[in-house]
Amino acid sequence: MTLPDSTKVPFGGDYNPEQWPEEVWDQDYRLFDAARIDTVTLGVFDWAMIQPAADVYDFTILDRIVARAAAEGRGICLATGTGAHPAWLARAYPEVTRTDFEGRKHRFGQRHNACPSSPAFRRFATELARRIARRYADTPAVVAWHVGNEYGGACYCDRCAEAFRDWLRARYTTLAALNAAWYTRFWSHTFTAWDEIEPPPALTEHWRGPDHTAFQGITLDYLRFMSDALLGGFLAEKAAIRESSPDTPVTTNFMGMYRPIDYHRWAPHLDFASWDNYPPDDTSPAWMALAHDLIRGLKDGQPFWLMEQTPSVTPCRDVNPPKRPGVMRLWSWQAVAHGADSVLFFQLRASRGACEKYHGAVIGHAGRRDTRVFREVAQLGAELDQVGAATLGARTPARVALLFDWDSWWALEMSDGPSRLVRYQQVVLSYYRALWEAGIDVDVVAVTADLSNYQVVLAPALHMLKGDLPQRLEQVATRGGSVLATFLSGRVDEDDNAFLLDVPGPLGPLFGVRIDEWDARGPEVVNPVLLQFGSERLAADARLLFELVIPQGADVVGTYQSDFYAGTPAVTRNPFGAGAGWYVAAGLDQAGVSWVVRQVCEPHGLTGRYPTVPGLETAARVAPDGTRLLFLLNHRAEPVEVTADASGVDLLTGRQVDRGRPLRLEPHGVVLLREDG
Ligand code: GLA
Ligand code: ZN
Repeated sequence: MTLPDSTKVPFGGDYNPEQWPEEVWDQDYRLFDAARIDTVTLGVFDWAMIQPAADVYDFTILDRIVARAAAEGRGICLATGTGAHPAWLARAYPEVTRTDFEGRKHRFGQRHNACPSSPAFRRFATELARRIARRYADTPAVVAWHVGNEYGGACYCDRCAEAFRDWLRARYTTLAALNAAWYTRFWSHTFTAWDEIEPPPALTEHWRGPDHTAFQGITLDYLRFMSDALLGGFLAEKAAIRESSPDTPVTTNFMGMYRPIDYHRWAPHLDFASWDNYPPDDTSPAWMALAHDLIRGLKDGQPFWLMEQTPSVTPCRDVNPPKRPGVMRLWSWQAVAHGADSVLFFQLRASRGACEKYHGAVIGHAGRRDTRVFREVAQLGAELDQVGAATLGARTPARVALLFDWDSWWALEMSDGPSRLVRYQQVVLSYYRALWEAGIDVDVVAVTADLSNYQVVLAPALHMLKGDLPQRLEQVATRGGSVLATFLSGRVDEDDNAFLLDVPGPLGPLFGVRIDEWDARGPEVVNPVLLQFGSERLAADARLLFELVIPQGADVVGTYQSDFYAGTPAVTRNPFGAGAGWYVAAGLDQAGVSWVVRQVCEPHGLTGRYPTVPGLETAARVAPDGTRLLFLLNHRAEPVEVTADASGVDLLTGRQVDRGRPLRLEPHGVVLLREDG
């Protein structure tokens, strides 16, 4: 089962008519008509309304909401309503609320905060999902089920401790195996009974917050366990839905690069992936592109849904600028360019009270259509209508894979080591950005993904090596591909214990180096790196981390220029099979990273389309009938003019574009080229 059936990109978003009298619904639907909004996500936080008491279910209002949306011809993404639990539930069953990392037992309040090990929560949430599905499964307007909302966080209560022990028993079978995996001879931690095992919050193994643990193995397993425990809630609701709705696809909305949950562990259980795009600031197009590609990679490159984005403001930060004119449209097309088969907002109408009353919305408090935001939404709605089915189901023709691994992320950032300033997301983003700036399509995939179709595999900060990954990376190089890894790769096995080998452990033969030691310095210290490959040269800067490399067959591509290791290798290339293994030992600046990635990709004919035009993003998709779609996205506030490198029709304007002729993009402009034959 894959995505909901559709004849065009579904357009709309979260809609909460239960907060309003029905006269307002009339106004909403006329505005939805004007903006060509065809899809509404309903009931994400309706639990207390539907079930006002343990033994009372009241569907009066939801029935009317669903019937109205159906009568208006809208597709419905129907939620199970379990993103926030009702006050009566928390009062009757105190176990429902979580115990936090600091050990504080929470009381009723906020949302997304039920203990995943609470039997009462599981029972009531599942029953709610069951009843909602039973009631609306035969409503043809319901195109998808939306379970919970933005699963996340963690609980450290006694029930979770029990469930953790069960999870560990299933994983290790014996205490001897667990003691070995956790390396418990260290600091007298040998466990002699399962009941002695504690979760690892601030009261036990941690100090100075979640990144500082005495036992990485324990914390790592708790993160894996918690990811699985929360998944258990999703699976129970999904199973309850399936009792009456065998065919309608089920999803839950992810959050991109969200550290607490390993989305690769969840992905097989979703019928299609979806996510909420709230970039950290308004200057992050590469970050968004990476997140889109990561979500697309969850289901083997299958398109996903953009479940939420704000039409203008996200109000929860300290300073909250609106999206500038054209930016909402640009970012919507960026999502489509990277594989989104929907464009949905949070939210369609602004709520009147509580913490999201100033959140961006298609319809504001005054209900006007003559606002900038509404106009831009309506314009996008018209464009999506016009483009119709052209992009649906289209796949990304990437020849490059970038590995993304939650275990490596967790292990790297919770380990005392060279530097707390080296952050996994930043390292991954810098290598992704090199591809993104060049305009090279990339799949962001799990370490378990099939790598046999890629010419280039980038593995930034591949701290942990699991399973047969080293062999599969070697196979990429053996058949002529290139593999790149960076500092802090190949350090630990899947229990987070160091390899009893030279660094980079089992990756040593592929990269032809051994790392003798590291140097780590504050961000103010620069060690210049001179890069040279063929006739290409660059003087780059490196910061934060400098591994000291002793080549074991690899050729030197870059050398450090200062300190006691001046003249020694910072970047190497090892011929391996018909291909090569590149190792970047230094924290190169973006210019350096981009230079190295270019040298890696060029021999494979992977050069990108407009690599020298800053701010111009390109992305390709190939429709199921083989039609090639090329997206050009101008992230700058100035116009850009390039020489077109492909011919076809711009589906947004109907204009013909000819290869070799000038092609102009307006500030924040978009071209969606359907390439000729
Ligand atoms: C998340 C949630 C929504 C809403 C938005 C606000 O994505 O899923 O319910 O709170 O954030 O940005
Ligand atoms: Zn708990």
